[in-house]
Amino acid sequence: MSKKFTIMTADEAAVYVNNDDNVGFSGFTAAGCPKAVPAAIARRAEAEHAKNNPFKIGIFTGASTGDSLDGNLVRAHAIKFRTPYQSNEDMRNAINTGDAPYFDMHLSHLAQTLRYGYLGKVNYAVIEAADITDDGEIIPTTGVGISPTVCQLADKIIIELNHWHPREICGMHDIYVPLDPPNRQAIPIYHPSDRVGTPYIKVDPSKILAVVETNLENEGGGFAPVDEITAKIGDNVANFLVSEIKAGRIPASFLPVQSGVGNIANAVLGSMGANKNIPIFEIYTEVIQDSVIELMKTNRVEFASGCSLTVSNPVITDIYANLNFFKDKILMRPQEISNNPEVIRRLGLITINTALEADIFGNINSTHVLGTKMMNGIGGSGDFTRNAYLSIFTAPSVAKGGKISAFVPMVSHMDHSEHSVSIIISEQGVADLRGKSPVQRAQTIIENCVHPDYKQLLWDYLKLSKGYTPQNLYACFAFHQTFMETGDMHSVDWRKFVK
Ligand code: COA
Repeated sequence: MSKKFTIMTADEAAVYVNNDDNVGFSGFTAAGCPKAVPAAIARRAEAEHAKNNPFKIGIFTGASTGDSLDGNLVRAHAIKFRTPYQSNEDMRNAINTGDAPYFDMHLSHLAQTLRYGYLGKVNYAVIEAADITDDGEIIPTTGVGISPTVCQLADKIIIELNHWHPREICGMHDIYVPLDPPNRQAIPIYHPSDRVGTPYIKVDPSKILAVVETNLENEGGGFAPVDEITAKIGDNVANFLVSEIKAGRIPASFLPVQSGVGNIANAVLGSMGANKNIPIFEIYTEVIQDSVIELMKTNRVEFASGCSLTVSNPVITDIYANLNFFKDKILMRPQEISNNPEVIRRLGLITINTALEADIFGNINSTHVLGTKMMNGIGGSGDFTRNAYLSIFTAPSVAKGGKISAFVPMVSHMDHSEHSVSIIISEQGVADLRGKSPVQRAQTIIENCVHPDYKQLLWDYLKLSKGYTPQNLYACFAFHQTFMETGDMHSVDWRKFVK
């Protein structure tokens, strides 16, 4: 590390951040996020509040973060606004009570939206780094997110130099920031492993306010073990993809895969790796999860491009112990490149994301529980789904011990419309929606994906409904209303709703 910069403690650096400032943080998921400085800003907020002074900041991040960032700042009531994605329980609660104003954005949009000036000024960038040179070359750690753009826009930069990450991670990042219209050029990525940028984020060294040295492990838990339901969904996805190869609709050499966040996504990749009828494949995705690393070790995945290494700590420790093996197999990019519509469509991605609920016509709700409560956010699911070669959504057919059907007459909030969704897969089976009218889509989804407990109810709904898209506006939310009144969708009685 350079000796040129001012070394401060996190609390000393936090003193520079003031009420009403906007702060851009590095990382993507808990991977690559600063920890000491956000915790110190939260302490500063609490101290100011104790003196009856206002203290709230606007927060830009790559995606969700660790508890040191979102958790500490929201518990300190220090949120002026928050974007673009989160998954912290305290943050989620504050968003749903209105304590933390939140706007949910497509992740590929945030960096350019900041550069366009739509979201105000970036006063500070707080960046976790594995290393920094005298002339301002920052080596990120396990997540890139919006770091290059917030470094470019911020008045001042605070570096959290985390010695827990080896500086030999240098070379696993590809930093490229597109020019803005009317000067934007094609992004020359023709293959998931193509490099188009630099291995570091270059900043003006005079903007570096302080370096805060830490030695803190990554936050964020591991994944739930694969259970019967997630294993079945994974097998259904893998078998479906094999049938598509056999039918000639996916090239025999296969196509790069994007896989969403969470436990189902982790299980799906595991099943794809175990199915030897799927060739060795490559990943062009947002979050690289544990299962990808396992599949690299068994030579089922040959390359992964993403925005972050969102892996559990035993897995990142393994990667660091075997950097020679992993270094030319993993590349981390800014999220406007990992999730870039131009690149996604050019590479022809098979995209696999998870729905909270779907309706029988193929519209998807990824974000809102019962139409009103924010779960996490749309994340990159829209970036990938809308531009996919083949867009797949997965969901268990029921939630909450069977009291909620994931398949409903009309979604209570829509993130992805019927026009973008090709395939829906539950543990019950596969609904192929391509080339089908709304009625045909409903028949396919009810027949193949819906839990047996809810099939007849949804067949009955179709009979009550009219039109090109046969909805009944008196009854389309009867499943949700019945759940709110009785705690169970099973007891829906259409006679109560239909006039
Ligand atoms: N109605 C109400 N609640 C529901 C529900 C429904 N239809 N379906 C699921 N739930 C509940 C579950 O019971 C669970 O609640 P619990 O935590 O109290 O048990 C919760 O919602 C979701 O379960 P979780 O285990 O977190 O699921 P997951 O890890 O598979 O994540 C999403 C699923 C949809 C929340 C997650 O994939 C997501 O945030 N997606 C949007 C962003 C995205 O797709 N990004 C990827 C792009 S790369």
